[in-house]
Amino acid sequence: MKPRRGAKDRFTVKGNAIVAGGAGTPGIRACDALLEHGLSGLMMIDLNPAVAKKEIAAMQAKFPDAQVRALDRPVDVTDEEAVEAAVEDATRELGPITTLISFVGVYDIRTNTISPGYMDTILNEGDEIMKHREIWAARNPSGRTGSPSELTGTVLLLASDAGTYINGMDIVVDGGQILFS
Ligand SMILES: NC(=O)c1ccc[n+]([C@@H]2O[C@H](COP(=O)([O-])OP(=O)(O)OC[C@H]3O[C@@H](n4cnc5c(N)ncnc54)[C@H](O)[C@@H]3O)[C@@H](O)[C@H]2O)c1
Repeated sequence: MKPRRGAKDRFTVKGNAIVAGGAGTPGIRACDALLEHGLSGLMMIDLNPAVAKKEIAAMQAKFPDAQVRALDRPVDVTDEEAVEAAVEDATRELGPITTLISFVGVYDIRTNTISPGYMDTILNEGDEIMKHREIWAARNPSGRTGSPSELTGTVLLLASDAGTYINGMDIVVDGGQILFS
């Protein structure tokens, strides 16, 4: 194998993934990054899948050679039966599932977690917490809160061959916040 090819392959994502809580901003960014890196099939499941209809359509157009799907019924990841049924549906539609990622709590065949710092998602929106956002940014060594797209590098590391021996780890992606805590 050519050396430069090896470098590219290391961060290639193979197979099919289920992304739970995928309709939220961090989930959508991660789905897009996984597809950019070669994911063959995606099944997004969420308590509120309707909110991501536009984003799913955009990803279907952007990645025509991949199978990009979202279960169009609500799936609660704390409901074992609902998750089992979702996995069955995903497997039937995509084939064997190789990667499970959850933005309601992350799980995988290898089990790793990502602990984000304060990120710019709907959770942290609104004028009433503007003061808090300013304090979070001021107290962060990076001087700002994080963009959900800044979690994708870690998602790719864990989902690709670059991370096959990372197991049982929690990776903190917080701009250095932990240093000040
Ligand atoms: N935004 C932050 O600053 C921040 C920081 C640290 C940790 N987190 C954690 O990261 C995760 C996602 O972040 P967010 O909340 O900002 O993004 P978000 O609200 O944009 O995405 C979360 C998604 O999960 C779905 N969801 C919630 N409960 C579910 C359930 N039981 N079953 C299936 N889907 C469910 C929601 O419908 C939503 O689409 C959360 O667990 C949150 O606690 C967020």
